[in-house]
Amino acid sequence: MKRRAKAAVLAFALAAPAAMAQQGEAVLDAPPPAPQSPREAVEDRQAAMMLMWYATETMGTMLRGGSVDDRRARNAARTLDEVSAKILTYFPEDTGSGVDDSKAVADIWTEWSRMQDHARQLRSGVAALREAVDSGAGRDALIPPFREMGYACGSCHYDFRLGQDLLATD
Ligand code: HEC
Repeated sequence: MKRRAKAAVLAFALAAPAAMAQQGEAVLDAPPPAPQSPREAVEDRQAAMMLMWYATETMGTMLRGGSVDDRRARNAARTLDEVSAKILTYFPEDTGSGVDDSKAVADIWTEWSRMQDHARQLRSGVAALREAVDSGAGRDALIPPFREMGYACGSCHYDFRLGQDLLATD
């Protein structure tokens, strides 16, 4: 997605219907979702990933800086929780590289159970992170779940995304 379009889609994604969030953990056990417009699927997916990226950056910056602002940490953890809960719904079949500027590799759909494992690991890290944030635990308690989450982001990208630069626009 071009960077200009990205901002518009991001605004759209922020207003995504609550119904999707309510699907909850059942989504992690489901087969790939039915196809929508492939181009829209890619744009929605990249926007969702960008939301997680912003939240991760917010959290990471605070953790590295040594002081955690409660309100910002709660917001970031909530965004990560809400988006990660439906991450697999952003991967309908036949929406990989070749559609728009998608960098999703086709193996995602032939190795769906591995994809589900990555999603579960993400959920596990995010749930622990949100719990630690919401319980008011200090910075040190946030670092292990933040690392677990980051590992899940990175290992899924390693397996299933083309290229290492997450913010590449071409
Ligand atoms: C289950 C697999 C998986 C997990 C977990 C995952 N991602 Fe992704 N991510 C992908 C794939 C696949 C793409 C490529 C999507 C495309 O281009 O169609 C992607 C793309 C991205 C992009 C680029 C978006 C763009 O506009 O091109 C960012 C940024 C990103 N992910 C951030 C994250 C962050 C942050 C996390 C963890 C909090 C995360 N992702 C977790 C699979 C995953």
